[in-house]
Amino acid sequence: MERQPGSLLLGTGRCVPDRVVPNEEFTATLDTSDEWIRTRTGIRERRYAGPADTSASLGTVAARLALQSAKVEPREIDMIVCASVTPDLMCPSTACLIQAALGCPPIPAFDVLAACSGFVYALSVADQYIRTGSAKKVLVVGAEVLSRVSDFSDRNTCILFGDGAGAAVLGATTDTKRGIHKIRLFADGSRQELIQVQSMVTPNPTPGPGSLPNLRHLRMNGREVFRFAVATLKQLVEDAREDCRALGKEVKLIVPHQVNVRIIDAALEDSDFPPDRVVVNLDRYGNTSAASVPIALDEGIRDGRCQVGDTILLVAFGGGLTWSSALITL
Ligand code: ACO
Repeated sequence: MERQPGSLLLGTGRCVPDRVVPNEEFTATLDTSDEWIRTRTGIRERRYAGPADTSASLGTVAARLALQSAKVEPREIDMIVCASVTPDLMCPSTACLIQAALGCPPIPAFDVLAACSGFVYALSVADQYIRTGSAKKVLVVGAEVLSRVSDFSDRNTCILFGDGAGAAVLGATTDTKRGIHKIRLFADGSRQELIQVQSMVTPNPTPGPGSLPNLRHLRMNGREVFRFAVATLKQLVEDAREDCRALGKEVKLIVPHQVNVRIIDAALEDSDFPPDRVVVNLDRYGNTSAASVPIALDEGIRDGRCQVGDTILLVAFGGGLTWSSALITL
């Protein structure tokens, strides 16, 4: 009997803009310091997109690199799913813009919105299409220009965010030992006000300080989100490691959403997981929301921190609130 296909990670890519923004850049206009930002978040610098860059342009570069590493041509891709909270346009989707830029044939292309969990959500969509046989090769992108929704008068939020994109190509496989084993997705909309970016069509938008454009700024209750994030990350890791053991495997590398090193440390504090097997790059990029996990994943793979046959765990949380995990053998 023919085996049902699963999804194998064929290749990854990332793109961060050239402009490096060190913590010191905030101290001229805000009551903050490099020392505060480093010790309270772990962030030293982040990247900001140039005036011509968008989520689609950064996402396209990351996608090209992912296709190259997967040895897949744009014409072979059956579907594109892009995750972003900072799409170029409300319509059409960023995935459509990436499809056009790559020169793919007419294929399904659409966005998913799950904030910092967006890439794992998008991965799950791709995985489902592949498992049902509806697609053989899917491009998944996470791309953001959070500098465009940062409120540079709010020291609680603006110091956290950066711009960038990451991408992965998934392909069908009948090898049951490799590929995506399990994805867990969650959302709790009752806590929607903890992280928000309002849109120009938000009914009765909450007035931010100043003028209409400020309505587009990201607002967050950092302290509440911190508490949620530590407990959630801890639970996601525990559950996924148990899933992994049930498969007779061990997690080789954890790729968490990058927002605050204190969140990652606190979530893993009581576990026996070696800290050197956790990818942390937030010191260089800050929080890039939906791009954070695929950028860290690409770094982990290209730096040789995981190899073919290793099982890795992606974990993310963010606005929604949403949270998610993906257990994958390379
Ligand atoms: N510089 C100096 N002081 C600051 C700064 C800053 N940049 N930011 C906040 N403070 C001050 C606060 O105003 C506060 O001062 P007060 O006591 O006089 O009121 C004090 O520092 C302590 O504030 P806390 O909020 O308790 O600081 P905390 O240690 O929690 O750090 C932070 C704040 C970094 C935001 C942290 O709460 C955090 O990382 N939260 C999680 C963020 C997150 O995970 N977001 C999810 C993803 S976002 C998305 O989905 C797109």
